[in-house]
Amino acid sequence: MSKPRILVARAIFPDIVDRLRAHFDVEDNPDDVIWTPAELAARLADKDGVLTTGSQRVDAALLAAAPRLKICANMAVGYNNFDVDAMTAAGVLGTNTPDVLTETTADFGFALLMATARRMTESEHYLRAGKWTKWSYDMFAGSDIHGSTLGIIGMGRIGQGIAKRGAHGFGMKVVYHNRSRLSADLEAECKATYVGKEDLLRTADHVVLVVPYSAASHHTIGAAELALMKPTATLINIARGGIVDDAALAVALREGRIAAAGLDVFEGEPSVHPDLLTVPNVVLTPHIASATVPTRRAMANLAADNLIAFLGGRAPLTPVNQ
Ligand code: DGY
Repeated sequence: MSKPRILVARAIFPDIVDRLRAHFDVEDNPDDVIWTPAELAARLADKDGVLTTGSQRVDAALLAAAPRLKICANMAVGYNNFDVDAMTAAGVLGTNTPDVLTETTADFGFALLMATARRMTESEHYLRAGKWTKWSYDMFAGSDIHGSTLGIIGMGRIGQGIAKRGAHGFGMKVVYHNRSRLSADLEAECKATYVGKEDLLRTADHVVLVVPYSAASHHTIGAAELALMKPTATLINIARGGIVDDAALAVALREGRIAAAGLDVFEGEPSVHPDLLTVPNVVLTPHIASATVPTRRAMANLAADNLIAFLGGRAPLTPVNQ
């Protein structure tokens, strides 16, 4: 019997592609070419499965061109690149990679918060530019992390990880806002208090966004929300571009309506709003919150495990539409 055919749509660890070759006829993309939707569709015409990375849109048009497709295994926990309704209607399973990246992403969220509050990249650029000639009392004076109020919007696994780091490691007072309230046990574990979104924005010294992207969460933070924040506050986005109105944020940063922002994700990435590139009080990173070698390997292996299980007639490990 011939093996199922799969496409690995972006470059991933070569040994994990080899692992897949033991089960499937694999077409991969070792040069990491960014295919157009039409080029991707052409490659999917004869495939039973695809490993995507979150940067390939899977919608009705793509599915119509892929009549044999049974599974899209995303190498990402977020799956806003999937039109889940269209996939379900077409009988195509989607899977993602939860849990394996939680702690790494929470580490990064906290690192970005610290770099932003303590103005690390801004001060490094100053030093590298040869501008450091003397100590001064207010040189790159930022805001405190320990003992401050941490506001988390989106209290899933990653949000909880950030809450624990803040509460237990830095003595922060943690408030959170989420679609639903956590159980009393989880609130106690995270030392976190549920508040309304406006209260959180008014009181937090550091606001961290960890909500999944959807039409409902589009521009969770826009000009009106930024206006509620303290002028000394920082805003951290490790969720998805589109959760923040980047143009409004650039204005707020330039006008000092908030102190600083740390952004790992952007509307329309890999493009970045040009105004964000020119304001000094923002730390910018290229969507790397889950990027450690062990975690990226675990994500790729989990996506591979989903393909191997499902196309081998077994239950997928982490389905999103079943
Ligand atoms: C995720 O897993 O959703 C990340 O954003 C991709 O690295």
